[in-house]
Amino acid sequence: MNARLAEMYPTAFVTGASTGLGRAFAEMLLAEGVSVWGTARDPARLAELAKNQSFTPVTLELRDGPAAEKVFLEAGRAAGGFALVVNNAGYGVLGEFAETDFAIWEEQLGVMLINTARLAHAALQGMRARNRGALVNISSLAAEFPLPFQSAYNMTKAGLTALSESLMIETAGTGVVVIDFRPGDYRTDFEGAVRRPPGPASPALGRAWAAFQRMMETGPAPVHAAAALRHALLGRRSGTVRCGRFFQAKLAPLLVRFGSLPLKRRVQAKYFDLE
Ligand SMILES: NC(=O)c1ccc[n+]([C@@H]2O[C@H](COP(=O)([O-])OP(=O)(O)OC[C@H]3O[C@@H](n4cnc5c(N)ncnc54)[C@H](OP(=O)(O)O)[C@@H]3O)[C@@H](O)[C@H]2O)c1
Repeated sequence: MNARLAEMYPTAFVTGASTGLGRAFAEMLLAEGVSVWGTARDPARLAELAKNQSFTPVTLELRDGPAAEKVFLEAGRAAGGFALVVNNAGYGVLGEFAETDFAIWEEQLGVMLINTARLAHAALQGMRARNRGALVNISSLAAEFPLPFQSAYNMTKAGLTALSESLMIETAGTGVVVIDFRPGDYRTDFEGAVRRPPGPASPALGRAWAAFQRMMETGPAPVHAAAALRHALLGRRSGTVRCGRFFQAKLAPLLVRFGSLPLKRRVQAKYFDLE
C-alpha cells in the first residue's frame, strides 16, 4: 500500500463507480487506503465494492441536478468533506443530430455537462474553504477529436475540459488541484450502454459505429486509466492527463499541435472509415 496517496486524499467521492473506469478508479483508491464514496443509480450494482469496509455506496442519478447535489453534500458531511472528487459518470448517444429528438441531446447535456458542473461547483466550495483537495473531471479525447454522430457527447466533453481549464486558472497558487482527465477508448461497458434512439441511420453512421466498436473492444483495460490517474494525483499538480493507446493519447494530439486542422479532419475521417 502507498501511504502517500491516502495521506494526501483520505476521502474520495467517485461518480459512476459501478463499472468501467469509475469502478477501476474506486478500486485503485481503495487499494491505496483511501475511503471511497462511490455512486450508481442502482446501489445493487455497487455490492461487490461494498464488501470493502472503506467503501460507502451512494445512490445518485445525475439527471436531477439539485437532487444529485443534495446527495453529494450529505455524503460530504458524513465524510467530513471530500479531499478528492472524481466526476466520472457518463454515457454515449449515437445518432444524426438533426434527425434525433432534441430532448435526447438536451438530457445528455444536462446529465454530463450541467449537472456534472454543478457537482464540481459544490466540490470546489468545500475544497476552497479547506484550501486543499483535488477535483478530477473525466473528459475524453473526444474533446479534441469529436466522435462522429455523437455530437452532444462531444459537446459535454469539450465543455468539461473548458471548465477544468477555467478552474485551473482560478485555483492557481492555492492548495486545490484540478485535473482534466482525457481517456482514449477503453474496454468498458460504455459501448454497450450507448443509446441509439430510433431514427434514420446513414451508411456513414453505420461505418463510424463499427469503427468505434472495434476501437472500444480492443482498447486497454480500465486499470490502465486508473494507473494514470494515480500517477497524476501523486504529482499533486493541476493539468491535463491524456491516456489510452499510443496513437490516440500521444500521436494524434501531436498531429493537432504541429499539423493543420484540415489534415486532422482528414486523418480522423479515415480513422472512422468515413472516406
Ligand atoms: N470507455 C472509454 O473508452 C471512455 C473514453 C473516454 C471517456 N470516457 C468517460 O469515462 C466515464 C466512464 O465511462 P465508462 O467507459 O466507464 O462507461 P460505463 O462502463 O458505461 O460506466 C458509466 C458509469 O456512469 C454511470 N452513469 C451513467 N448514466 C448515469 C446517470 N444518468 N446518473 C448517474 N450515473 C450514471 C453508470 O452508473 P449506473 O450503474 O447507474 O449505470 C456507470 O457507473 C464517462 O464519463 C465516459 O464518457 C470513457
